[in-house]
Amino acid sequence: MKSRHRVRTYGEVFTPRHMVNRMLDLVREDLETGDFVDKTFLEPAAGHGNFLVAILRRKLHAIEKEYPPALWPQESLFAVASIYGIELLEDNHRDAKAIMLAEFLSFHQAHGIPCGPRTNLHQAAAFLIDANVVRGDTLTGLDWHGEEIQFSWWNRIPEAPGMAQREPFTFASLRHSTTDFAMNFAASDSYQACRIEKVHEQEKADD
Ligand SMILES: C[S@@+](CC[C@H](N)C(=O)[O-])C[C@H]1O[C@@H](n2cnc3c(N)ncnc32)[C@H](O)[C@@H]1O
Repeated sequence: MKSRHRVRTYGEVFTPRHMVNRMLDLVREDLETGDFVDKTFLEPAAGHGNFLVAILRRKLHAIEKEYPPALWPQESLFAVASIYGIELLEDNHRDAKAIMLAEFLSFHQAHGIPCGPRTNLHQAAAFLIDANVVRGDTLTGLDWHGEEIQFSWWNRIPEAPGMAQREPFTFASLRHSTTDFAMNFAASDSYQACRIEKVHEQEKADD
């Protein structure tokens, strides 16, 4: 609890770590087995990121167990790309993004994988976290500029392992019918496929 005012106004009470873990145990299969890397999660009231980082931590541990080390950079980025959040308050939003990036970097540092600020690994992870963890209001579907909350899918290219294609969508479209959803895609910007480690460098197809 940060203040009574914040509890009253924003319902800001954080879930303790042991409870976060018990809740994630309920979806252990999705998080840690089969095609777990790409299973998507959305935290609609992300707070300072306690659920987001716990989801990422579990996916990273499972990647370590299930994949050869050569694939850890790309798979860890796809894991980041699968985790979404919305948070109303500026400080919590900033903390949520920072804790995600710190978890990602400490995983790679622990394995001696270069991930300094100038590396593609670091920049791609920071870019994906910025795109997926949005400051906004889940109830209205608007971001803090008053625009519709925009997310992206980071689709794998089946015939080209390690490649991703960004596909934007609005948060509102998740609540609409299948038809609206399809129309929303048609109206959206399109991006070229690129290696996931280079996702921060990519341009829109029509730029
Ligand atoms: C009860 S806390 C929970 C945080 C985290 N989910 C947890 O369980 O520890 C609620 C969080 O949601 C945020 N929040 C409140 N209303 C929101 C809204 N309409 N849209 C997005 N975030 C909201 C608050 O700022 C606060 O950080």
